[in-house]
Amino acid sequence: MKIRVFTDSRIAVAYAAAIVEHVVEAEHHPTLSLATGETPSALYAQLVEFHRRGLSFTDVTTVNLDEYVGLPKTHAQSYHQYMQEHFFQWIDISKDRIFIPNGYVNNLQNECERYDRILQQHPIDLQILGIGINGHIGFNEPGTAFKPTTHIVGLSEETIRSNARFFNSLNDVPKQAITMGLQPIMQSKQILLMAFGEQKAQAVHLALEGDVQTHVPASILQIHPNVTFILDEAVAKACKLNL
Ligand code: PGA
Repeated sequence: MKIRVFTDSRIAVAYAAAIVEHVVEAEHHPTLSLATGETPSALYAQLVEFHRRGLSFTDVTTVNLDEYVGLPKTHAQSYHQYMQEHFFQWIDISKDRIFIPNGYVNNLQNECERYDRILQQHPIDLQILGIGINGHIGFNEPGTAFKPTTHIVGLSEETIRSNARFFNSLNDVPKQAITMGLQPIMQSKQILLMAFGEQKAQAVHLALEGDVQTHVPASILQIHPNVTFILDEAVAKACKLNL
């Protein structure tokens, strides 16, 4: 496991973007697995900038980690919408190479199985991750057994409270989500986990230095052979990393 600490998140994001660019250029038909939320939005802005300067995404396939259950794709807070707004509308990726689980279907179990088939066809070259303040990755929430495949999850109180900042009220935050399981994440060739700000310190500390445990899903990354934690000084200092 590599840990890279940067003075601020802007420089950290530039580092992450350079790694994404390398994978996009070096791999033949690369698959990127993408995260949503506040943390990766600056990464997408940087990649859009790279695209303006000539980086092409025409050979790239993307899969996304998760989506809320019950929000139509066009809902302002759906992760479909997030990806369009932050990334896809600005680059030259082909629409039929974009895969995001759909949380707005009658049969969620069928959707989980459909998404797993897609993931089997597109092994992940580079996985982008954030981390929840409760240590979740994707919406693999703490406290239940590690689940390998795509599944429906009841969001934890902490996650609902944390994500309320994107909605008009706490009540508007969906209570369930559909998330990629841990197997495709752990089978990714390379993983970048970005965490910025001291509010992530406890989760990062437990993920890096605690035991691998279901109470901290991100701790499973300790047994991945090629993972880099990309941190700003705020989170690194607050979790007293010995660097
Ligand atoms: P954030 O979410 O980037 O909005 O903090 C990260 C996560 O919950 O995985």
